[in-house]
Amino acid sequence: MKNLITLTILSLLTFPALADEKISVEHGKKLHDESCTGCHIGMTGGDGSALYTRKDRKMKTRASLETQVQRCATNTNQSWFEEDVKSVTDYLDKTWYKFSK
Ligand code: HEC
Repeated sequence: MKNLITLTILSLLTFPALADEKISVEHGKKLHDESCTGCHIGMTGGDGSALYTRKDRKMKTRASLETQVQRCATNTNQSWFEEDVKSVTDYLDKTWYKFSK
């Protein structure tokens, strides 16, 4: 019984970070695909992701990426919370920019 409790506590301490990140990326992808691709596809064709992977892309750091996500979200009147901006940044970072590995 004591082992079971220890195990439960340990797994609660270890896994949430991973789970959180996965949930955040999935949430970010959903928001992004709903609200952000329209314009970008018009600019680059395909699925719009070329904007994030082109050689002369503008974003050079994770911080500037987050600022840009916030800017594009504000410009297009998304009523996103801070967490939503972070999720979309997580999604773009993990999938395309690879600033934090
Ligand atoms: C109204 C059209 C439009 C919408 C909608 C839009 N964007 Fe953009 N986005 C742009 C333009 C224009 C640029 C600048 C391209 C450039 O500088 O060459 C850009 C650039 C970006 C970049 C930087 C690309 C690079 O060079 O690294 C990111 C990141 C980005 N947008 C994220 C988003 C997100 C997140 C959303 C959804 C909230 C969004 N955009 C919605 C027009 C749009």
